[in-house]
Amino acid sequence: MAEIGYRSGTLCVEGVPLDRIADAVGTPAYVYSAGAIEAAYRRFRAAFEGQDATICYALKANSNLAVIALLARLGAGADVVSKGELRRALAAGVPPSRIVFSGVGKTRAELEFAHETGIRQINVESLNELEVLSEVATRLGRKARIAIRVNPDVDALTHAKISTGKAENKFGIDLAHARAAFARAAALPGLEPQAVAVHIGSQLTSIEPFRLAFGRIVHLVERLRADGIAIKSLDLGGGLGIRYRAEAPPEIEDYAAMVKDVTAGTGCSLAFEPGRFLVGNAGLLLTRVLYVKEGATRRFVVLDAAMNDLLRPALYEAFHEIAPVRQPAADAERSPVDVVGPVCETGDTFATQRPLPMLIEGDLVAILSAGAYGAVMSSTYNSRPLLPEVLVSGDRFDVVRPRQSYEQLLGLDRIPDWLQGKGA
Ligand code: LLP
Repeated sequence: MAEIGYRSGTLCVEGVPLDRIADAVGTPAYVYSAGAIEAAYRRFRAAFEGQDATICYALKANSNLAVIALLARLGAGADVVSKGELRRALAAGVPPSRIVFSGVGKTRAELEFAHETGIRQINVESLNELEVLSEVATRLGRKARIAIRVNPDVDALTHAKISTGKAENKFGIDLAHARAAFARAAALPGLEPQAVAVHIGSQLTSIEPFRLAFGRIVHLVERLRADGIAIKSLDLGGGLGIRYRAEAPPEIEDYAAMVKDVTAGTGCSLAFEPGRFLVGNAGLLLTRVLYVKEGATRRFVVLDAAMNDLLRPALYEAFHEIAPVRQPAADAERSPVDVVGPVCETGDTFATQRPLPMLIEGDLVAILSAGAYGAVMSSTYNSRPLLPEVLVSGDRFDVVRPRQSYEQLLGLDRIPDWLQGKGA
């Protein structure tokens, strides 16, 4: 990505050298490029030029208010999966008419809040949820616009933990029962079924599973119309993969051409829920080498970032490129090291036997492609404060979330009366 690269021997995000950010906010820290997010959004937009397509950014990928506000300003909507995300979308200025609400386990309170807010659509995932939402909507005196999320039983050919469209996954209503579900929705007093939704998984690197799933959805739409249900819109979910290493994900233009091909003739408006595609390559985790430790059989590079800050390698064995902030010489020798964090688990490993140029204590390194599912999945495990987040735009950078202080961290807890004061 052009916005992140070496300039005059130092890794920069747009016009800002990363050592400057480290000096200003300390490490570890997440750093995002506004320009890269904007470029990704514009590419997505351009690929669907001239079509009635709403891009509902999947907030779960990175829900910092500044990131949402940036995308909202460019015209993006939002895909939310909780009341918290819905509140973030609204607070960042996303118009309710561009918000869809997904998720397999929405509470009654969440459905109520979403319906009161008047969002574009609630994507219902079970018969039980249909009943609850209809009841909520009837009580509030206005019908709820819904999609039913269908499970097309398609293998997304991605990591098992982020595959969502197979029959054995918890998501959606299976195709065989979809018509009955729509019929039930149409019969309930509080619901207005208007769309079919599908999302088969994340980090897809092949276009074929999408084609298969969307084809099944289009076929369903024809049958639903024959049943007298006016489907106006298709929500085709997110899932488009990005390049972490050597993957060759579909180009967005090819994806768009496939969508156009498969949905031609339906007359449906489209919605998409991209998360990773918009922000994944636009962010990095900036961290410092604490120690280089010679183990019995291998060398460990111990960083000040850990699995609590970026969980993806520990949870999915995910690969993230690791780049020294000071540019190594082109002919620098590389030798295999294990790159690890300070947390007390062997799973706290960012890379195993990764060939890297010589690193020494105090060196800054960047863990790349961490803009999606990075900060949002962080925790305070080992009582490590949540990281700061920094947004770069051109030559400026702004702290868009300060580092959590120890007072804030400890202040979340309460010691009950009976435990206060001196013990026996
Ligand atoms: N829509 C729905 C209904 C989803 O469940 C997801 C992601 C998206 C959209 C956005 O998918 P994307 O375009 O970002 O692939 N934590 C995992 C990824 C989990 C994805 C969950 N659902 C990771 O770090 O790889």
